[in-house]
Amino acid sequence: MKKLLASLVLAACTLSGYAQNTGDLKVPTKPDRVISRHIYGHFAEHLGRSIYGGFYVGEGNTKIPNTNGVRNDVVEALKRLNIPNLRWPGGCFADTYHWMHGIGAKEERPTIVNAWWGGVTEDNSFGTHDFLNMCELLGTKPYLAGNVGSGSVQELMDWVQYVNFDGKSPMSNLRRKNGRSEPWEVLYWGVGNEPWGCGGNMTPEYYADLYKQHATYLGKGYLDKGIVRIASGPASDDYNWTEVLMKKIPLSLMEGYALHHYAVTDWENKGPSTTFSEQQYFGTMKRALLMDELIQKHGAIMDKYDPEKKVALVVDEWGGWYEVEPGTNPGFLYQQNTMRDAMIAGTTLNIFNNHSDRVRMANLAQTVNVLQAVILTDEEKMILTPTYHVMEMYKVHQDANWLPLTIKSEAYTVGNENLPAVSGSASKDKNGLTHISLTNIDPNQAQEITINIDGTKYKNLSGRVLTSKKLQDYNTFDKPNTIKPENFKGAKRRATP
Ligand code: AHR
Repeated sequence: MKKLLASLVLAACTLSGYAQNTGDLKVPTKPDRVISRHIYGHFAEHLGRSIYGGFYVGEGNTKIPNTNGVRNDVVEALKRLNIPNLRWPGGCFADTYHWMHGIGAKEERPTIVNAWWGGVTEDNSFGTHDFLNMCELLGTKPYLAGNVGSGSVQELMDWVQYVNFDGKSPMSNLRRKNGRSEPWEVLYWGVGNEPWGCGGNMTPEYYADLYKQHATYLGKGYLDKGIVRIASGPASDDYNWTEVLMKKIPLSLMEGYALHHYAVTDWENKGPSTTFSEQQYFGTMKRALLMDELIQKHGAIMDKYDPEKKVALVVDEWGGWYEVEPGTNPGFLYQQNTMRDAMIAGTTLNIFNNHSDRVRMANLAQTVNVLQAVILTDEEKMILTPTYHVMEMYKVHQDANWLPLTIKSEAYTVGNENLPAVSGSASKDKNGLTHISLTNIDPNQAQEITINIDGTKYKNLSGRVLTSKKLQDYNTFDKPNTIKPENFKGAKRRATP
């Protein structure tokens, strides 16, 4: 029995009439593209209360239920999202991180200063074993970001050997001495982070050489195991960075190429996370929707050097970034999460799904208590944000066959500017269920969308919707369920006349 499931993310609904939109969904008999589940990845940096207080509360904590110091409530919530991969330990922090500081007896680990994020003392109590064991608990693949800015090739080679080598070697012996006999088999490796900025203020030419050097030794012995070496890519629209790296780095040395893009309109004045105006919302959505153009333009440069699309575009930092919550440490990047963030998530995931031939991995920044988090914690309390619910509604697309959905959308207009109100993406999963996800970013206008479905008939139809009265609505520790998905009864099947 064929079934159609819809997930809808709506800015708000005025019930005074609907704007009309149309869409066409092609259902090929032999779909040729899978939406990689790794598009639904996450990111956890040693930043603010992401690791300490967010994921990890310490082995001795009797107030917050935990497994080896990792919060049980956070693990359960993330498992419900089927998170496919988790990037760690940064971010900017990665290029100051020396992994050997985070192994062995905790009381003997050196402390360092977290210079990028608040200048706080980092005691290294959460290190390589803690992170990789946590990934096993979460059932997710680890993605380690190596230190190129202040580290060395030897340091990176040692880290790979420490976590991945099965036989006897100085590093694997040390791992065993520290209590882990089996290697973890870490496949995803970032070579530095933002080398054009916090990762060393390098030129693309200089970084390309450094990348080749690190990637050569990173790959040694692990290529047949499927190691994925990810070069640090540009900020948003720095197309020259992509041109230089794609030209200088042979395809045999690179499996992934990163892109970072935040939906920020003005870095000097990022605006509040909850009390924003419609004008500010429109600006955020314009920047979020730019992701489509960025993927197309960086993708076109990649196509010149890699026409078979062997190298994955890895958008390993994306999301909204606002002023921190009043009264919190400016270096901790703690912000609330409203329906605006749900809109960023819905539209961005539609873009990723629709470019899944090149975009094969992505990481929302960041998982817990930092930037566009899916989870917020306050001591023993935990809440799920609107972004969490979007990730949960869209998880149906993980590893499903992509279906081309084209939408002719009404415009969402503010002042003299327009954005398409409705975006969408679709897939067919391995049980034969077709999923359509639609996002309406217009807070003033409900939308009706008629989708012409080509070549197949459906017997059942069901849906869920995430919406709220105001864009500025959010969940709080006192009212954690203000925004949550509800069943949607408004979808109808209509035979072709
Ligand atoms: O996600 C916060 C920071 O944003 C990361 O550390 C850095 O890579 C980016 O600039």
